[in-house]
Amino acid sequence: MFYLTTAIDYTNGAPHIGHAYEKVLADVIARYRRLCGDEVYYLTGVDQHGQKVQQTAEKENVNPATFAQRNTKKFIKLWEKLDVQYDGWAETVDDRHKACVQKILTRLHTEGQIYKKQYKGYYSVRQEQFLTDKERGEDGNFGPEWGEVEERDEENYYFKLSEHAAWLRQYVEANDDFVIPSFRKAEVLNAIDRAADTDLCISRPKTRLRWGIELPFDSDYVTYVWFDALINYISFAGYLAEDGSNLPEFEKLWPANIHILGKDILVPSHSIYWPCMLHAIGFTDAQMPSLLVHGWWNIKGEKMSKSIGNVICPSALAEQFGPEALRYYMVRDIITGKDSNFDADRLVSIYNTELANDLGNLCNRALNMSKRSLSSIMEASAFDDDDCTALRQSLTQTIANYRESMDRYDTSSALAAINQHVSFCNGFAERNKPWELAKDEEQRPRLAAILYHMVESCAQLSVLLTPVTPEACTKIQHQLRLPDLADKKLADLQWGLIPADHEIGKPKPVFPRIQLDD
Ligand code: MSP
Repeated sequence: MFYLTTAIDYTNGAPHIGHAYEKVLADVIARYRRLCGDEVYYLTGVDQHGQKVQQTAEKENVNPATFAQRNTKKFIKLWEKLDVQYDGWAETVDDRHKACVQKILTRLHTEGQIYKKQYKGYYSVRQEQFLTDKERGEDGNFGPEWGEVEERDEENYYFKLSEHAAWLRQYVEANDDFVIPSFRKAEVLNAIDRAADTDLCISRPKTRLRWGIELPFDSDYVTYVWFDALINYISFAGYLAEDGSNLPEFEKLWPANIHILGKDILVPSHSIYWPCMLHAIGFTDAQMPSLLVHGWWNIKGEKMSKSIGNVICPSALAEQFGPEALRYYMVRDIITGKDSNFDADRLVSIYNTELANDLGNLCNRALNMSKRSLSSIMEASAFDDDDCTALRQSLTQTIANYRESMDRYDTSSALAAINQHVSFCNGFAERNKPWELAKDEEQRPRLAAILYHMVESCAQLSVLLTPVTPEACTKIQHQLRLPDLADKKLADLQWGLIPADHEIGKPKPVFPRIQLDD
C-alpha cells in the first residue's frame, strides 16, 4: 500500500493557490502510484481548531464550529473542482480523531512523558507560541514576524521533547530519505539542538482557548495545535480506532510513504515534534514516515499575504482557464522542493504551447488524418524505417525518463519528458508528411505505418499524462475508441496498444487554446 498525506489546511480562511498546489501535487503522485500498480491511500483534510479560528469566528459573531464548517466546505468544493481525489478526509473536529488524540495524551501522561509546569515568558499572539531568547533578532528585540508580543505567566502541560532529541539526531543522520529533498536535512539537524533543551508546550488554559480538544486528565485545558493536528496522520489511518469506526486498517497503511508539506512547517513541527511524538508512543525507526517538502508559490518574488493583497484564488483561476490547465501549470512550473513565482500569463503560455499547440496538434492531426486517409481503420502495415525505429526509441526513452522523474516526485521533469516525445512526433510528421503520402496510392503502407506511429504515441501519452490531466486523457482515449486504456498500468505500455484494423472515433480538440481578451 502506498499511503500519502498532505498537510491539513487551516480553516480560518479560504483556500489559496498554495493549498491547491499541495493537494494537486499529492493527487498527481497518488494517480502515478496507481499507474505503477500500487494500491494507494491518499489522506487530506482540514485543521479546524485553534486560536485563529476562535478569534475570527468571534469577530464574525458565529460559533467556531459553524465558522470552521463553513470554510471546510470551501476546501471540499475546491478539491471537487480540481478533481483532487482523496481516499480519506480528515477533520479535526471528528469524534474519532478526538478519541485517538485523547488516548495518546492519556498514555503519555500516565507514562510521565507529559507534565505540568509554571511558565513565565514572552508570547507571540500571531504565531501563538511562547518565545525564547533564541527568537530575538540581532538587535535584541522580537522581529515583526512575531506580531504583537506580550508577557504571560501561566501553568501548562509539556511534552518531554528533549528526551527524544538524541534519538532523533541519530535517526535523521542515518536516514537520508526521512526528508526529501535531501538539501533540507541540514535545516532539520540544526533545529534538533534547540529541541534538546526545550520541552514542548501542548496545552492552553480554556480561559484563553476553548476551541480545541480537551485534555483527558485536566478539563481546564485543551491540547494545542500540534498534538491535535499531527495526530490526524495516524488517527484517520485507523490508529487506536474503535470497532465499527469505518476507518482503514492501520497496519495496512502505516508507515506513511510520504507526508507532503510545505517548507514552512518542516521545522519544528513535522521534522522534530512529529517523529519525537511517534517515538514516545513507541513507534520504531522502521515505522517513521518520510517527509516530502515542497517549496512555496510566491507572487513576483513576494510572499502571498492578505495584507499585501496578492493572494491568488485557485477557484477563480480554474473557472477562467479550466481546472486541468491549472493542474498542469501547478506541477509544471515549479521544481518540487523549490519556490516559484505564480504567474497567470505563464500559465496561459505554457498551456497554449505545450498542450494546445504541441500535444493538441499531434492528437488532432494524427487522428484526423487516420480517420480521413485510412478509411477509419488503423491498417496493419509491414512498412518500417529508421525514422519509425527512432520514434519507438524516443517513446521508450520518454517512459523511462518520466518514471525516473516521477519516482523522485519531480513532476516538472516528468512533463518535460512527455513533451520531448511530443516534439519528436511533430517533427516526425513534418519529415514524413503523411498529407503528401495520402495522395499517392503506392505509398499506402508507409502512410499507414507513419499514422500508426503517431496514433500509438497519442495512446501511450494519454496514459502517461493521466495523473495530471485525467479528464483530457479520458477524452483522447474515447476518441481513440479505446476506453480500456484507462485501466492500463505503466508496465502495460508496450508498443501495439492499438490493435491492427482498429477503428478510431471522431477527433475533437481536447486542449482548446486559451484566448485572452486584451
Ligand atoms: N494546519 C497546518 C498544518 C497541519 S499538518 C498536520 C498548516 N495549515 S496551512 O493552511 O497554513 O498550510 C497548509 C499547507 O499549505 C502547508 O503545507 C503549507 O506549507 C502550504 N502552503 C501555504 N502557503 C503556501 C504557498 N504560498 N505555496 C505553497 N504551499 C504553501 O500549516
